Amino acid sequence: MAEKLHIIPHQHAVSRADREQQNGHKGHVLWFTGLSGSGKSTVASAVERTLYERGIRTYILDGDNVRTGLNSDLDFSAESREENIRRIAHVSGLMKEAGLVVLSAFVSPYQKDRDFVRAVAQGDFSEIFISTPLEVCEQRDVKGLYAKARAGEISNFTGISAPFEAPGNPELDVPTHKMSIEEAAAMVVAYIIPKITGDDE
Ligand code: ADX
Repeated sequence: MAEKLHIIPHQHAVSRADREQQNGHKGHVLWFTGLSGSGKSTVASAVERTLYERGIRTYILDGDNVRTGLNSDLDFSAESREENIRRIAHVSGLMKEAGLVVLSAFVSPYQKDRDFVRAVAQGDFSEIFISTPLEVCEQRDVKGLYAKARAGEISNFTGISAPFEAPGNPELDVPTHKMSIEEAAAMVVAYIIPKITGDDE
């Protein structure tokens, strides 16, 4: 057993309520989950643009940017994915505490890891399932990764050689194959604005 660490959090002078009052909205973690190529980052980006134009403070975290920096030491094994999401959960939680609406777009294939983020965000969390089916993602193959995974050049590829646990009870299900990006983004915006501002859309 590791030695007990004597850590006592400091009570800081600017409260969460202060920040929310200054920003005019609450902090929140909008968690986009779905297969590679499902449209998570594209939808998150369109949502962020609209929120930004409405004066809402936002930040996007996604797999391809976080994995080139903070999480560049992690691969795609189940353990590494868990650690990937664990770190992002805390980063998202801290940004949310700082008053931001954080748009986190990660495959995050395991329900237990997404539930961990929900717990860290202490209720200010919404699971947005970008539910584009595998056939459509594979057909799009924007990054050419599905072809490589089918050819055996990428191991543990979500949907092909690694599992994806679809959310059982997401706050929002966004089937991007049945709508335009604008419609998908509008759906998320209509959901989140009342939650963070108390205003109707
Ligand atoms: S997660 O599973 O750990 O949540 P994350 O969202 O960070 O994944 O990264 C996924 C992105 O990495 C995909 O959009 C894809 O571009 C790329 N990628 C590379 N290898 C894999 C793989 N084996 N499985 C899934 N995505 C992969």
